[in-house]
Amino acid sequence: MNNLDFINFFDSIEDDSLTVLKGLDSKTQKKINSKYFYDEKGSILFDQITKLDDYYPSKIECEILEKNKDSIKKTLPSKSVIVEFGSGSNQKIKKLLDAVDKPIEYIPIDISKEFLFKNAKDSAKDFPNLKIKAICADFDQIDVLQSIIGKKKSKIGFFPGSTVGNYSPEDAKKLLINFSRILGEESFLVIGVDLKKDIEVLEKAYNDSKGLTAEFNKNILNGVNKICGTIFDSKLFSHKAFFNEKKSRIEMHLVSKKNHIVKILNTKIHFKEGETIHTENSYKYTLSSFQNLAELSNFEIIDVLKDKRSFFGVFILKVKSI
Ligand code: AVJ
Repeated sequence: MNNLDFINFFDSIEDDSLTVLKGLDSKTQKKINSKYFYDEKGSILFDQITKLDDYYPSKIECEILEKNKDSIKKTLPSKSVIVEFGSGSNQKIKKLLDAVDKPIEYIPIDISKEFLFKNAKDSAKDFPNLKIKAICADFDQIDVLQSIIGKKKSKIGFFPGSTVGNYSPEDAKKLLINFSRILGEESFLVIGVDLKKDIEVLEKAYNDSKGLTAEFNKNILNGVNKICGTIFDSKLFSHKAFFNEKKSRIEMHLVSKKNHIVKILNTKIHFKEGETIHTENSYKYTLSSFQNLAELSNFEIIDVLKDKRSFFGVFILKVKSI
């Protein structure tokens, strides 16, 4: 494939066992970072979740992109470089690349090398005339990313899937400010955001009737076992997901079914019956709470696209002059 370049800037110096141990060793709430969900099995499970009736966000986001093709084409500049933060499923970028007028280059950025490369290869096949530069890097490697992406050409960032919801509002602000610096003045950002709605609908999306989300949640322990050499038994935990109204977020936890001990790096971690490991937050915004966040993070609101029921919002933002 001669339209595809692959550049690696990411060398993880982080010791995963230590990170996981830190989260579990604490005297307060035990936690595991949600990035450990996405081993091969986890990625497959997530893909299956996005197709469930109960899990509405992915399907609605695709519909919004599809239905608003014409207005997206008018709003966003032609001959742009498209920068995708966290190369998710190829379906969504396909929709955006189809909507935008004559994109000249596509730059997916992700820390997960294998996933990034596989997706970039698929896109290279789907768009044989588009130049693709896949970059393995972390979003806070701003200088590196700026120099690769270049300053002059017009740029459109893409951050779909409501991944922004996995960050606390404080961290989301830092992340968006990073994006604005990477993209530069006058650039655009297209960002998908899951919206606050009836608690029943929200909770059903994370407690689906097929039990796939439960399986996905428990699978994080298999991922940790592979990376840290631990011997978590995922059968000793059950799935719990609920909406935390005060923080406006879905929380996912794993509940220990009985008292037991798991060893990491020679440290014994004690689990009491009923004690939980917090595995994920998924913040839900209102249209105005997300607008506020965007405006506090170097962006102005150009357009908000949503479905009839206001279940999901696709915000078109523009980097403010700094
Ligand atoms: C893709 C990370 C946004 O938070 O809804 C799906 C992940 N977790 N079901 C989300 C997820 C449980 C999803 N994100």
